[in-house]
Amino acid sequence: MEQTLSIIKPDAVAKNVIGKIIDRFESNGLRVAAMKKLQLSRADAEAFYAVHKDRPFFGELVDFMVSGPVVVSVLEGENAVAKNRELMGATDPKEAAPGTIRADFAESIDANAVHGSDSLENAAIEIAFFFAKREIV
Ligand code: CMP
Repeated sequence: MEQTLSIIKPDAVAKNVIGKIIDRFESNGLRVAAMKKLQLSRADAEAFYAVHKDRPFFGELVDFMVSGPVVVSVLEGENAVAKNRELMGATDPKEAAPGTIRADFAESIDANAVHGSDSLENAAIEIAFFFAKREIV
């Protein structure tokens, strides 16, 4: 059993497809162990994506992530990290396989609907960034 962090990004929240995205997770064996909707501050987004701070897209990434509310969740299940990434599809929606969340709901590599932890180690760090232990049930 693994846990992973999911973010439904501002583009998907603005499109009112939170429920449709969560349904993808629940219909594919993942369980929501924690969830909240929040507006990231610039400091939050810069800290969360600090690993990308030297990449050319960092400024646009932070601008986008603070452009509206997000929904953060802890998803739990067998192979949750890989399963979530499979359901999301490729980072660039133009390359995402048909039927994946990004193929169906994303517009561009920045407005790409969802984020998911890329490893079990990063999942633990990202979950701790957003949730206290008592909020994960
Ligand atoms: P995410 O999984 O949230 O992790 C970092 C984000 O940076 C990524 O999704 C994309 O939305 C965004 N991004 C923008 N340009 C690029 C790029 N060239 N390569 C990877 N990620 C990018």
